[in-house]
Formats: sequence, C-alpha cells, structure tokens
Amino acid sequence: MPQHVAFIMDGNGRWATQRGWRRLRGHSAGAETVRCVIRCCRDFGIRYLTLYAFSRENWSRPQEEVSGLMTLLRDHIVKQEHELHENHIRLRIMGQREDLPADVVRELERVEAATARYDRAHLILALSYGGRTEIARAARLLAERVARGELEPQQIDEAAVAASLYLPDVPDPDLIVRTSGEQRISNFLLWQSAYSELYVTPVLWPDFREPDFRAALEAFAARSRRFGGVEAKPLPKEKTC
Ligand code: FPP
Repeated sequence: MPQHVAFIMDGNGRWATQRGWRRLRGHSAGAETVRCVIRCCRDFGIRYLTLYAFSRENWSRPQEEVSGLMTLLRDHIVKQEHELHENHIRLRIMGQREDLPADVVRELERVEAATARYDRAHLILALSYGGRTEIARAARLLAERVARGELEPQQIDEAAVAASLYLPDVPDPDLIVRTSGEQRISNFLLWQSAYSELYVTPVLWPDFREPDFRAALEAFAARSRRFGGVEAKPLPKEKTC
C-alpha cells in the first residue's frame, strides 16, 4: 500500500460540457469525488493524500470559473471540517497562498490551525501551486541563507533543496494518479515525483470512485520499484541459454 498518493484531478470541465452544463457544475461534482477519495484513504490506510486543486496556470481561466472554484474550495473545506476532526486528518496547504483571496486563506488557515495537532492522516491541497515556482522559491530561500552567512554554497545539496520546499516533512508521493486520460505531469510535484509511479485512468474526475481507486492501487502493487537500482531476484540455478 502506498504511504502517499497524489491526484491530478482532471476532467471536471469535460464531464460538465458533455452534459450541456456549465464547467462549474463539473467542479462541484469533483468536490464530491474529493469527499469519496478522502474516505477511501482512511479505509485503505493511506497516510498522505495530495490533491492538485488549483495550479498557478489556472489563474488564466475565465474570472467566473476562478471565483466559482475559490468559493467552492472554501465552502467545501468548511463543510468537511467536522469529518477532518472525526478522522484526525490534518489539513495542509502547499502553494503560493498569498495569491488566494483573503477570505479563502482565512478559512483554510483556520482549519489548518485547528487540525495541526493530528498526525494520523494528512490532506494536502496544492493551491496556486506550480512545481517550477516551488523549486525556484527553494533556490531563493537558500540563496538568502547564503547571503546572510548562514550557509556555504558547497552545503547546497539535494537534502538542502528538499528541506526548502513547501512541506519538507511530507514524504515523496509513491503514486501519482491522473484522471481523464491525459498523460502529462502538468507542473505538479516536479521535485517530489522523481521516483513516483504514474497511473493514468480515462475516468473523468467527477466519475472517479472507490473501484477506480482500487484499480490504481492494484496497478501500483504490481509495479516493481527499483529507484534506479536493480531488482533483487535470486539467480536461476540452471543455465538458461
Ligand atoms: C481540472 O479539471 C480541475 C481543476 C482545475 C480543479 C479541481 C477542483 C476541484 C475538484 C474542486 C474541489 C476541490 C477541493 C479540494 C474541494 P478541468 O477543469 O481542467 O477539466 P477539463 O480538462 O475537462 O476542462
């Protein structure tokens, strides 16, 4: 079972337009899938769940969609707060939170603080998130430490970069699932995904349910993760050729 699963929740817009509805209705249906996936993680014993809820690039969408999504996010978290407490789930935000509307940041930070004592499970929302921005920010933080005389340039290694990311204590995702069939990473967890297993399903995010999650986990279980090494297999006793 993976310890950390991350989702690129794609296909909300297509799901809605296929039905002749506005895109926002697809996002609302997608919020229901979020509830379902959080419950699945609890039942499957997955400790870290990261959801790519809004990328930095998503700001270029029509104003109506952006503000609708922001309201949906805020209201969803407020509505789900009791379930986070019931299940001892810690809410965490990764991304440029200062880009978000003040009322959204206020509510998110309130729930972040109220759930900060939990460690059984972590729900991480990537908001105004971009992997390149995260790495550039880490480089800037390190450069500032060098300029202050706290760090020598030779001390900047992979561990130092990893420690300067948004959530340095969170382990890298074991599995990244993308819905709606697109085979791209779309600027998501660029540093952390170095050895993540990727799983793409054609199912659109609003239709994604427990059997689809189970299928992703079964595919993950069948993978051989070598992290650049070789599989430790016993040598065959007989000469095979
Ligand atoms: C991508 O689908 C989805 C998003 C940009 C937003 C995801 C947001 C939610 C699921 C809403 C609720 C989230 C939380 C955490 C409560 P798309 O719109 O790009 O779909 P398309 O490719 O079919 O147009």
